[in-house]
Amino acid sequence: MKRTTAYTSLLEAAAAAAGRAYAPYSHFRVGAALLANDGRVFTGCNIENASYGLTVCAERTALHTAVAAGARDFAAMAIVCAAGRAAPPCGACRQALAEFCAPDFVVLSAGEARLKEPKRWTLRSLLPDAFKL
Ligand code: THU
Repeated sequence: MKRTTAYTSLLEAAAAAAGRAYAPYSHFRVGAALLANDGRVFTGCNIENASYGLTVCAERTALHTAVAAGARDFAAMAIVCAAGRAAPPCGACRQALAEFCAPDFVVLSAGEARLKEPKRWTLRSLLPDAFKL
């Protein structure tokens, strides 16, 4: 599959995952889709909690779902916000991605209504000099 085709279906998977967001407090619905190098795609959504600090972002839901399924090697992640604009991953999610993903890992983000115009970064540009043990 061509890379652009893979990215289009990744954005579509992230948009579908945003529809499963549990965001009764912020109403900011986010979906993420993570492409593993073996071709598998893992999705996640944000899951909020009445104890606000327990909220988990869509990106970490997808990443942790993938790792729990045995995937460790990733190529790209798409993030889709039901709100109009593209949201870059938060700092905590950048660090979580850096645990498993190489600096040239690709991050795409789009608003739900503009899936064809995603912003695009590498993990290197989002988190230079990532902390690692
Ligand atoms: N959120 C994500 O899921 N991903 C991000 O990159 C930024 C923020 C969620 C967390 C919370 O449920 C809501 O968006 C508002 O911060």
